[in-house]
Amino acid sequence: MASGKRIILVTGANTGIGYDTALYLARADSSNHVIVSARNEQRGLDALQKLQDMKPKGSLSFQKLDVSSDDSIFTAVKEIEANFDKVDVLVNNAGVFLGGPNSRAAMRETFEVNVYGAVILTDALAPLLRKSKDPRIINVSSGMGSIGARLDPSDPWYTQNGEAYRLSKAALNMASANQKFKYREEKFKIWSYCPGFVITDIVLGDSVRGEDSRKKRVEAGAESSETSAQGILEIVEGKRDAEMDSFVQRYGKVWPW
Ligand SMILES: NC(=O)c1ccc[n+]([C@@H]2O[C@H](COP(=O)([O-])OP(=O)(O)OC[C@H]3O[C@@H](n4cnc5c(N)ncnc54)[C@H](OP(=O)(O)O)[C@@H]3O)[C@@H](O)[C@H]2O)c1
Repeated sequence: MASGKRIILVTGANTGIGYDTALYLARADSSNHVIVSARNEQRGLDALQKLQDMKPKGSLSFQKLDVSSDDSIFTAVKEIEANFDKVDVLVNNAGVFLGGPNSRAAMRETFEVNVYGAVILTDALAPLLRKSKDPRIINVSSGMGSIGARLDPSDPWYTQNGEAYRLSKAALNMASANQKFKYREEKFKIWSYCPGFVITDIVLGDSVRGEDSRKKRVEAGAESSETSAQGILEIVEGKRDAEMDSFVQRYGKVWPW
């Protein structure tokens, strides 16, 4: 595809925040091309169809990508390279919250997606990001990964469980810091971004992923995941460049690291 377009890869884009992000970015600008990636081909293609049916100004395509598999990451990067001469924006959005009691298996599975996936994909994509005039990496983290907030009894999420998830998002924040160091000679712009408490399928507390979680989120006052997508759009459009070294939230706010 001609490099006149801003090429944006969103992981876990078949639903929730990733899906809304793909929609907001494709709708925002005719020069945006969004690569809608998903681990499940059918769910990804269904999402792509729904997005294309809305006839956004920008263009979209599908890429199969399971961030917990190195094979899938390296195959996807090769396929992206064959179709695009660069990547301008990477949104490391794919994430899981397993809930339930602590176990080594649950922590490992959480880290596979929330941390290792983002780190390995970013490094694999770096040569294509390097070809962009304005490369941007957005690591979708969570306020639950803020060490400052964890130590603050007045934080609204103080009593919320989810140790594995908290650990993984704190590690993802360190991944942002590591990327800043690793790519310091490049023009890469990197953010850790908390999308806020929003209504998606992701587990809340002991709920079951999907409708059960959505219902609990609505009852607990969660907002639309479109507000999260709006925040990502603002970063992509350069409206939060001054806050590159902070852990940003929606609505111009920041979290303590
Ligand atoms: N919702 C909130 O209130 C909230 C708050 C703070 C942070 N976040 C973060 O926001 C991000 C998006 O979450 P969400 O709320 O939109 O949750 P969601 O609706 O459950 O969506 C998660 C997405 O990640 C995908 N995914 C999971 N494992 C994957 C893998 N191995 N490879 C590729 N994709 C994978 C899922 O694919 P499948 O559909 O195939 O499972 C889905 O597309 C996550 O990083 C989450 O931690 C959410």
